[in-house]
Amino acid sequence: MKNIQTITVDSKEQGAEEICNIVRGELEAGRLHVLGLATGSTMEPVYEKMVSSNLDFSDVTAFNLDEYIGIPADHENSYAYYMKKHLFSKKPFKQTYIENGMAEDLDAECVRYETLLKENPLDIQFLGIGENGHIAFNEPGTSPESVTHVVELTQSTIDVNSQYFSEDETMPTTALTMGISSIMQAKKLIVAAFGEKKRAALEKLYAGEISTEWPVTYLLDHPDVTVITDQKF
Ligand code: GLP
Repeated sequence: MKNIQTITVDSKEQGAEEICNIVRGELEAGRLHVLGLATGSTMEPVYEKMVSSNLDFSDVTAFNLDEYIGIPADHENSYAYYMKKHLFSKKPFKQTYIENGMAEDLDAECVRYETLLKENPLDIQFLGIGENGHIAFNEPGTSPESVTHVVELTQSTIDVNSQYFSEDETMPTTALTMGISSIMQAKKLIVAAFGEKKRAALEKLYAGEISTEWPVTYLLDHPDVTVITDQKF
């Protein structure tokens, strides 16, 4: 697939290093002004590497893909909290944006976020993949035309992500997410997927056919995708 470059690595840590190398190259070439970030365990070693590197993001604006609805930014399972903990408290950025899952008017919040994205076009967007093939919180069935919107999480996502919530807490079942179209506007997409559990989604991608049921396959329509994985195909 000519639009997809695959870098096969032995470990998440090696994958993180590859991602940092791409970021460094783009920064040095003066092509990285707006960076789209992702959350999840996949991204943790990437942020660790970014933090311990000499990379300078003080002139870079960051956007996050998604956020739960109904938990505040200081809740330890919010993505705002995750970003602060793993990256923003340790590396200065020019500006950081994430959807506000506590907004009173969620539709207005989606419009606000999409407008910000239009004003600050993404140079690079990091992406993880859900076991069900979701990207950000774009669950199976999401339209390729979607922009930032409210989603009902699928049972599969709730089952996977509830491991991060303590027993006496109920995990949010709704979230705000950049849409497929918002993600596809990024000039460069970097997808990280490690472990057997992501294999089915990657197999769908490499099969080369776009399917609404596997949102990751929408990436087949993007001109510049790099997949970093420890799975061999
Ligand atoms: C969540 C996020 C996704 C992320 C996925 C993978 O569902 N909304 O953006 O890609 O988790 O998470 P992990 O890296 O923990 O497998």
